[in-house]
Formats: sequence, C-alpha cells, structure tokens
Amino acid sequence: RECAVILVGGPTKGTRFRPLSLNVPKPLFPLAGQPMVHHPISACRRIPNLAQIYLIGFYEEREFALYVSALSNELRVPVRYLREDKPHGSAGGLYSFRDYIMEDNPSHIVLLNCDVCCSFPLPEMLDAHKRYGGMGTVLVIKVSAESASQFGELVADPVTNELLHYTEKPETFVSDLINCGVYIFTPDIFNAIEDVFTERKDRANIRRVTSFEALQSATKALPADYVRLDQDILSPLAGKKVLYTYETLDFWEQIKTPGMSLKCSALYLSQFRHTSPQLLAAGDGARRATITGDVYIHPSAKVHPSAKIGPNVSISANARIGAGVRLISCIILDDVEIKENAVVIHSIVGWKSSIGKWSRVQIPL
Ligand code: GDD
Ligand code: GTP
Repeated sequence: RECAVILVGGPTKGTRFRPLSLNVPKPLFPLAGQPMVHHPISACRRIPNLAQIYLIGFYEEREFALYVSALSNELRVPVRYLREDKPHGSAGGLYSFRDYIMEDNPSHIVLLNCDVCCSFPLPEMLDAHKRYGGMGTVLVIKVSAESASQFGELVADPVTNELLHYTEKPETFVSDLINCGVYIFTPDIFNAIEDVFTERKDRANIRRVTSFEALQSATKALPADYVRLDQDILSPLAGKKVLYTYETLDFWEQIKTPGMSLKCSALYLSQFRHTSPQLLAAGDGARRATITGDVYIHPSAKVHPSAKIGPNVSISANARIGAGVRLISCIILDDVEIKENAVVIHSIVGWKSSIGKWSRVQIPL
C-alpha cells in the first residue's frame, strides 16, 4: 500500500500570491475551475494501491473542512487534512504526523508541494524509484539557466540517475536541472529527519561549552523542530547513494504569483483535453455561446449565447456573462457579473466584481 502527502503551507506562506489568497487559502484558488490542490490529488488517484491522501498545513481546520469532506465523498480514497500548530518546515511538517502516516503501514510516501503545476507522472516515478532501490526519488526538470536560481539546483549522475549534488536557490549558477517539489520516499525518510534533530542537539551541546559567539549564532538559528526537506535533507544526503532523480519532459511551473495562475490554468485546461474532456465547455450549440480553445464554465454560471469565450478562460460559480461579451485568457471568479459587450483579456476578475457594459479590461502582456 502507498500513501500520499500534499504540503499545503499556511496563512503566513504564499504571500506573493496576495491579494488572491486573502479570501481563500492559496491551495484552494481555482485553476482550470478546480482548486489548485485538486490537480495533485487527481494525479494521486493514478497510484496503484493508494490507501490515504493527507493534506498537511497550518491553515485553520475549518478552511479545509468543507473541501475535504466533499472530496472524500467523491473519491474512493480517504482524504484528511492534518493541521500543524505552527510551521515546522517541509520535512518537519511531514515528520510531525508520522504516526498517522505510518498507521497504514505504507511501503512508499508520495510527497507533493501543492504550489506546482505539473502532469505529476507518479506511477512512472514510482516504478523508477523501485528500480533505483534508494530511500528517495526527486522529480526534476531542465529549465533555462536564468530561471534556475529560483529553485533547488542539482546535479545527477547521467547513468545511474543518482542525486550527486544539491543546492537550494544558489546565488551562483550550479545547474539547469531543478527540483520540481515532487518526491517518493520509503518510510526511512522519518529516520533521516530524526538524524537532523539528533545532530542539531549534539551541535548545540558542543557550542554551549565552546564559545559565546557560537552560542549566539545558535540561538539565531531556526527553531529546533523546523526541518526543511531541501536544505536539511536533500543537500546533506546528496552523493550518498540514497537519493535518485527522475526527469520529466512534460510541463512544469511553480505557482507563486497571481500572474502564474493564468498560465497554469491554461496548462491544466489543455491537459483536460486528454484526462477529463467532459469538464471542457462545448461550443456552438444553437443556444450556447461561441467557444474557442480550452474553456471551463461552472454549471451554475450563466453565459449569454451571443458571448464569445476563449481560449484559456475559466468561469467560476454563479458568474453572469452578458450579451456580446468577449473573454480571452482570463479567470472569472465566483459571483462576478460582466455586463453587455464588455471585453476582458489576460485578467483575473475577483469575487463579486461587476464589470460595466462596453468596458475593456486588458493588461498588456
Ligand atoms: N505543512 C507545511 N508546513 N507545509 C509547508 C511548510 C510548513 O512548515 N513550509 C513549506 N510548506 C509547503 C509549501 O506550502 C509548499 O507547498 C512546499 O511546502 C514548499 O515550500 P517552501 O519550503 O517554501 O519551498 P519553495 O516552494 O520556495 O521551493 C521548494 O519547491 C521548489 C519547487 O516548486 C524547494 O524544494 C525548491 O527546491 C523547489 O525547486
Ligand atoms: P508575474 O507573472 O510573475 O510577472 O506576475 P504578475 O502577477 O505581475 O503577472 P502578470 O502581470 O502577467 O499578470 C497577469 C494577469 O494576472 C494580470 O493581467 C491580472 O489580470 C492578473 N493579476 C495579477 N495580479 C493580480 C491581483 O493581485 N489580483 C487580480 N484580481 N488579478 C491579478
């Protein structure tokens, strides 16, 4: 049996996504009409013998309660939200719920960042992980040398795929191969995290008797139970024959800014062509609006038959789109009203807004 964990962060994370994450937790912001976290969850359903999906974060329980209970009814796999009392870092968060996770006695833990947009090739990655026989496998992708420094940069053995070297967001260029924030681990990952705690305690004890300056720098350090997967686990274990890489040639983006949500919405809409065509709007019925390209329209939205919509448009619940409206590359959130003959291009229209007739909303690309 396998188990999946999605790291959703909390209200103090995802600040670059504001103001879109002020009303709704960033993981629930809609991309292609589905909450951001819905896309990795759907991907997890392709893992054979999946016992549980856990969402770990430090948002209030009630912010996820509705979503999680609706989802558990819909999926055959139980989904549970586990709340940390405070941020423990990406590895620390996972570690704090080790007892829950190990209850199912999983042979692997699939760990996903929720703010990446990707085809999540999890079954393929799991097969590769079993072939490598290590403790962990990291999904990696080649990006341009200029953008690589925003991510964890790494070097892998071209033959064995072993992770040889890892640096998180380095100042000087290391490699154009980067960490996608998608991992497969054996339960040994918990021992590796524990080793970090032990080592920190030992170091703190030595410092206490050596020098005053060392003690000062130790107190400035992160809380003792804060462990980052990248810096504290991947970096030191690189080159030790326990971590491997699996390269994806498919799409991958990180979702940190509002502008990125438009790009990622487009990527997921085009993926729906293959995975869930029933979610895409069909155009050109006698009483339907004209649709071009990939478009999602929530069943409760009302779209006038003379409107022209697409490509890359997603329209959320209870939106009203008037006669003669033109929408291109945009996200229309819940309860929005767009009046007659308005044009909206490359924009996100926030909850409950109203756009007057004949207006034009367009941010130049
Ligand atoms: N539950 C919980 N608790 N989740 C957390 C915590 C925490 O304390 N801290 C971060 N997360 C979640 C975030 O919500 C996000 O989904 C994921 O963990 C990683 O967040 P960060 O640790 O802030 O790293 P990052 O997003 O800047 O970069 C990481 O991901 C990149 C890929 O998107 C790194 O691993 C990079 O190397 C990698 O390229
Ligand atoms: P980058 O992609 O990193 O440059 O971020 P960005 O947000 O500046 O991207 P860009 O300027 O390409 O924004 C794309 C579209 O996203 C804009 O036309 C806006 O419609 C929308 N957008 C960006 N930020 C916000 C926001 O804070 N609120 C709303 N409602 N829409 C936003």
